[in-house]
Amino acid sequence: MKRILLVFGTRPEAIKMAPVVNKLKEYSEHFTTIVCVTAQHREMLDQVLSIFNITPDYDLNIMQNNQNLFDITTKVLNGLKGVFEEAKPDLVMVQGDTTTAFVAGLGAFYLKIPVGHVEAGLRTYDKYSPFPEEKNRHLLSTLTDYHFAPTEWSKSNLIKENVPLERIWVTGNTVIDALMTVVRRQKSEDSQGSEVRGQKSEVRSQKTRVKAQNSVFFNSKLRTQHSKLILVTGHRRESFGEGFENICQALKAIARERKDVMIVYPVHLNPNVQRPVKAILKGIDNVFLIEPLEYEPFIFLMNESYLILTDSGGIQEEAPSLGKPVLVMRNTTERPEGIEAGVVKLVGTEKEDIIRNTMELLDNQMLYEKMSQSANPYGDGRASEKIVDILSSVL
Ligand code: UD1
Ligand code: UDP
Repeated sequence: MKRILLVFGTRPEAIKMAPVVNKLKEYSEHFTTIVCVTAQHREMLDQVLSIFNITPDYDLNIMQNNQNLFDITTKVLNGLKGVFEEAKPDLVMVQGDTTTAFVAGLGAFYLKIPVGHVEAGLRTYDKYSPFPEEKNRHLLSTLTDYHFAPTEWSKSNLIKENVPLERIWVTGNTVIDALMTVVRRQKSEDSQGSEVRGQKSEVRSQKTRVKAQNSVFFNSKLRTQHSKLILVTGHRRESFGEGFENICQALKAIARERKDVMIVYPVHLNPNVQRPVKAILKGIDNVFLIEPLEYEPFIFLMNESYLILTDSGGIQEEAPSLGKPVLVMRNTTERPEGIEAGVVKLVGTEKEDIIRNTMELLDNQMLYEKMSQSANPYGDGRASEKIVDILSSVL
């Protein structure tokens, strides 16, 4: 029996680790699966834990309002020492590029515990963009023993950095596993089938939840008035201040000019996001600022949207599978595969660039259709299965 300790702390890590946790639990004769959440996020993490039925064995509960990088780093590092010493894992698994992921890797290294890194090898090679994620992920690679790269491109970055070839596996991204689980569930609920969810009452409660959290979308009067739904998310630290104001001013201008459009924006709970978004966008009749959505209602909304404006990493990976065009409001991306597939475009954070590119996509049907092709550059939904198979053979 090998003891695997999975450490994560934020919404996207939880979404991308959930399929690995649940797959490992299927192999309980080989692995003892232990989950530690740092709770770098609280509400946004808990939403995901409940959707995927994960009850953590350890919860460091570190989040504080408007926390800074020093707060997160020290609290996670100090909190994990006791967990590592008590849980005595044979392997610590981390995901992505958050400060939780990097610091968990660092802590494991201090105690000479091997590290497995899910979603390894993504790079911009720009130290401050995304900040601090580029360096978090890069530094984590230097501490990692087993690198699970989502694509060939991410593998090639690791090879360039002299990571031994036999330590790298291309698995696809586990976000596609999570996405497919939810899409399958929603399809089976649509047809009132019971193959996936089992109980009918549960099916009803899922539907009620999706509807309750997307009440704006289900308002038929609004939907007739504003037929094209633009879904927006944004939270990057490097855009705080001027970048965010530009983004919000661009959204305001689009909403004012295009009454056929409704902008739905589940606003990240970070106060540095909430402040400018509410100051600039509150009170505009076709802009709907809502709370962060649970994963299932959010995927539903993605599926129903006309186009997506975001700076999120995970959404850049999910949208191509759903055939939804994405305009990325960032100056760099560590995920070039969606751009190469022609379904994602990097538009920066300048107001005029965001407006021009959005208008073009709204008006140019040929361009829209080209960007709406569905593509799967990030995997086939079997990444977690591959990761667990690899762990079975290497441990
Ligand atoms: C973090 C990650 C980022 C990831 C993002 C996903 C770091 C440094 N940043 O950024 O890589 O892309 O999560 O969303 O690892 N808050 C709440 N409730 C929550 C979550 C956040 O109130 O459930 C508020 C708190 O005031 C908190 C603040 O948001 O202090 C910032 O959270 P933090 O994790 O530091 O930064 P994010 O911008 O969420
Ligand atoms: N997401 C969600 N609810 C929301 C917004 C996003 O469940 O209201 C999901 C989204 O589908 C994706 C992930 O959260 O899987 C992305 O998280 P985020 O943008 O916070 O982080 P990033 O991916 O940029 O690190």
